[in-house]
Amino acid sequence: MRIGFYQFSPAFGDIEKNLEMLRGSFAKELPHILVLPELAFTGYNFVNREEAIKYAEEIPGPLFEEIRSLSKEKGVAISTGFLERVGDNIYNSAVFVSPEGDYYVYRKVHLFYKEKEIFSPGDRLFVFEYRDAKIGMLICFDWIFPEAMRTLTLMGAEVILHHANLVLPFCQDAMITRSIENRVFIVTANRTGVEDRGGERYVFTGRSQVVAPGGKLLLRVGDEVTGVFSVDIDPDIAGDKNINRFNHLIMDRRQDIYRC
Ligand code: ACM
Repeated sequence: MRIGFYQFSPAFGDIEKNLEMLRGSFAKELPHILVLPELAFTGYNFVNREEAIKYAEEIPGPLFEEIRSLSKEKGVAISTGFLERVGDNIYNSAVFVSPEGDYYVYRKVHLFYKEKEIFSPGDRLFVFEYRDAKIGMLICFDWIFPEAMRTLTLMGAEVILHHANLVLPFCQDAMITRSIENRVFIVTANRTGVEDRGGERYVFTGRSQVVAPGGKLLLRVGDEVTGVFSVDIDPDIAGDKNINRFNHLIMDRRQDIYRC
């Protein structure tokens, strides 16, 4: 399986322009799964909930259908951050769309900083299958809670799609640790650029990457690079949780003494 990410700087509030940038980034050779950053079509730094709700969309809506037809046309599964509306609530979501038209929606469980004033938190982690790989999704700040990645691992995830708008400097290295702890593949699709609005200035850190089980960095790009990058992976490798002849990552846990 070939897996990749699109690192770029979304134009704030300009869904059409961000779609154009995505279309323009497609090379002849696309991966089977392409991961985009958090809130890739709207931007991140909303001044308040009232502003954000104007850009939010129920799924399936017009932007979702654009992504679905792009996925079908190009034969690539697209997993992207998405500003989702459900009734009066808005969620910082990620939607995975396959060329066959199937889709899965994950709602960010751990909200960061002022996101707590804007979004409702998600309440579910889940794993689904695509091309025989077991896939889990996370969004940005979910990274700082090792329980999230561990839960997806215990659910059988082999590949984690991590949609990010990272502002703290630690995550890319922490994901190497998460893949050592869980023996899973992790694709972190981060964004570049700066958003300075309403008294908050965010500098996004780029350095999108793919890490293999055991912590091997397969691919990492620079902090300002734009484009689609991809690498071949074998998701089956993530099924082997043996550390050595005596130690197993899951079986050796001491749940009798842990407090979480
Ligand atoms: C973040 O969760 N976007 C930092």
